[in-house]
Amino acid sequence: MRDEAIGSELLAWYDANARVLPWRVPPGSTEPADPYRVWMSEIMLQQTTVAAVKAYFERFTTLWPTVSDLAAAEDSAVMGEWAGLGYYARARNLLKCARVVVAEHGGQFPDTEEGLLTLPGVGPYTAAAIASIAFNRQAAVMDGNIERVMSRLFCVEEPLPTSKPALKAYATRLTPTHRPGDHAQALMDLGATICTPKSPACGICPLMAGCAARKQGVAAELPRKLPKKAKPTRLGYVYIARRTDGALLLETRPDKGLLGGMLAFPTSDWSEAPTDTPPLNASWYDPKLEVRHTFTHFHLRLALRVAEADQDATPDRGAFTPVAQFSPSTLPTVFRKAFDLGRGVTVDAAGAKS
Ligand code: ADE
Repeated sequence: MRDEAIGSELLAWYDANARVLPWRVPPGSTEPADPYRVWMSEIMLQQTTVAAVKAYFERFTTLWPTVSDLAAAEDSAVMGEWAGLGYYARARNLLKCARVVVAEHGGQFPDTEEGLLTLPGVGPYTAAAIASIAFNRQAAVMDGNIERVMSRLFCVEEPLPTSKPALKAYATRLTPTHRPGDHAQALMDLGATICTPKSPACGICPLMAGCAARKQGVAAELPRKLPKKAKPTRLGYVYIARRTDGALLLETRPDKGLLGGMLAFPTSDWSEAPTDTPPLNASWYDPKLEVRHTFTHFHLRLALRVAEADQDATPDRGAFTPVAQFSPSTLPTVFRKAFDLGRGVTVDAAGAKS
């Protein structure tokens, strides 16, 4: 199959099979997609599944329907709504970017890849996705799904990530001038529904006739991948201090670093040999419970410590937050786990389990 034939088979398949998603306009629409919604969805979809993103996207665009609404939002409100989605630098950059679009671009997203690349949190993937989907620019969008489709279509045996430049060159070659945004979304849908990582459904693939890996019988084995490094495990302590009125000791984590800007229970350092550094002078109870959570580059195990605090206790860090002002859903997942675990632990003021 020639490149043009691959492109037209793909678009015909997309016209009939496009997934209905809240940030999308139907295939071939005359109404262009709203750049704000495309940008928001693409930021959320980095490292996160469509299924997980849908509800967050609906909530964000209901609370903040335009980029100006988002730019005017409180940082803590945006970070709280992002809780549970992970990769929190995305949320900090989301807010930064909205403010730059309003302050420096009159509330309009730049309409070229180069212009989009100047925005906070917008890298090559997001710039290409917005340029093609929202502005109909001929930009080659590369994500994990599209890499997999390219590696099979052109039977690229070289493993990822070494093969990335070759895969990008194939994707660029295939990107049409006509409906480039639909072409990109068609590749994403094909990768998500037919050209899946395991047991691809080659029998119903619109590109079967042009697929080199299928001809060689190796489609399911591609893309090959270099072995991943094993993740180290870090240890630490997480401290839950409760006052009798139910207030909890919470802090906002520093902007820089992991879970930056998120609401959290105080912790020790996270390392091979952490130091027990409670945020408050109290009797800390050891319920012999541990929170386990896996981040991109390491596993974390936090030993839980619980204390009942006096009403007038003054913590070294963080602040007591009344129950009425606190919603557990605004905690990132690792601290949500700590909250859930701590709820089942009862201690009296002397630190003994009652
Ligand atoms: N994954 C990343 N971006 C996407 C999009 N626009 N549509 C579907 N899946 C996606």
